[in-house]
Amino acid sequence: MASDKISIHGAWASRWVFILAATGSAVGLGNIWKFPYMTGMYGGGAFVMMYLVCIFLVGLPIMLAETLIGRRGRQSPVNTLKTLAIESGASAKWSWAAMMGMVAALLILSFYSVVAGWSLDYIIGMGRGQFEGVTAQEAGGAFGALTADPWRLTLWHTLFMVLTGFVIARGVVAGLERGLRIMMPMLFVLLLVLLGYSMTTGHFMQGFHFLFNFQPDRLLHGLLAAMGHAFFTLSVGVGSIMVYGAYMPKHASIGSTVLAVGILDTLVALVAGLALFPIVFAGGMEPGAGPGLMFVTLPVAFGNIAFGQIMGTLFFVLVLVAAWTSSISMLEPAVAYLVERTGRSRVLVTSVLALLCWLVGMGTVLSFNIGAEAKFFVFGEDGFRLFQWGAAGGMNFFDSIDYLTSRILLPLGGLAFLLFAGWVLKRDTVREELAMKNPLLFSLVYWLVRLVAPLGVLIVFVTELMK
Ligand code: PHE
Repeated sequence: MASDKISIHGAWASRWVFILAATGSAVGLGNIWKFPYMTGMYGGGAFVMMYLVCIFLVGLPIMLAETLIGRRGRQSPVNTLKTLAIESGASAKWSWAAMMGMVAALLILSFYSVVAGWSLDYIIGMGRGQFEGVTAQEAGGAFGALTADPWRLTLWHTLFMVLTGFVIARGVVAGLERGLRIMMPMLFVLLLVLLGYSMTTGHFMQGFHFLFNFQPDRLLHGLLAAMGHAFFTLSVGVGSIMVYGAYMPKHASIGSTVLAVGILDTLVALVAGLALFPIVFAGGMEPGAGPGLMFVTLPVAFGNIAFGQIMGTLFFVLVLVAAWTSSISMLEPAVAYLVERTGRSRVLVTSVLALLCWLVGMGTVLSFNIGAEAKFFVFGEDGFRLFQWGAAGGMNFFDSIDYLTSRILLPLGGLAFLLFAGWVLKRDTVREELAMKNPLLFSLVYWLVRLVAPLGVLIVFVTELMK
């Protein structure tokens, strides 16, 4: 029998709603914005290849581990780990892993909100027909003008944070269930329309090759980046999936559910990539252009097709919704924890946390304009400096937070959750929660969680250190 506990924060009506919620969390800016630009920066096929390997060998086992831990514990990730560790005779300090994840999720939210804010700006721009007949240069100029303006960025960042806080304050289950059912399929259909357009650009095969050409000599180049992104795009390593697992019905099958979410997430990213890169090449744009990639290419596409204004507006609305359903899952672990810990209302706790994330997010807002010269983690000739204004090397605020979360905190969090499910929880507990009919399949999955995936994370870390 699976555990009989129930969560005080709510419960999904069925397994389908969990799939919807977890997919809502997974599919977001990571798929449509980050995946294409990282693929571009790391040179295409080799990155995509490693990303796919990491999704299936490491990312999905972590998602499985998080879901089963969450459903077993039925509390916020921090308290779930604490309770289950004590029940299993292990140290309560395991909860620190969830604490770290919680902080990582809030850090991600800080910059995610800024980028989601860009799509708000683009909804207005598209709606007003600003991009009609636009060239690649003009679209680049429009994006540059947006990021150069701290006030405009702050406005949208604020609005997005309020939107996120609003749903969280109402409660995830009530706030999320309704919207997701319509929005997710719509997003997918529009991506397919975009894919249709990219096939007419005459550069489809070039885009296809860029994404899928196999370059064995480059596989190690962006390995940690690929793994970090696999975690980011699946929302694993921070407790978001764990907290959603806590609201999952008792009898739903975890294995097939997790697989469905992983496949959907990967499909959306690949279709987004296939739709974007032909447009990049057709417009003579640079695939390695960085974070602006999607915001420069898509206006060109929509600006030059029939009904582009309407479809473009709708597309950015859907990007916004996809980002929204992800940002909610970043805030939920911390809100659930603080509600449990302080007994205060969701509204109060949400307000405080959203304000905090908003403040940190201002660092990202400024890193695109007046604060662009503020560099962190600088390895200069005179040694290492945490901060230096105007340094040639180092990373700006946005890049630093992104690096810290995706490449360090997410993998460490993921590793901890794997070890917890594989070595702290009893084998029988895991077997009960997974409830797989085929014992062979169970053994396979169990060893994936217990050994293969943790080793995978470690190997990537070590390889990166030795480069
Ligand atoms: N998976 C989300 C995306 O791809 C981002 C995310 C990361 C959500 C971590 C929750 C936790 O956009």
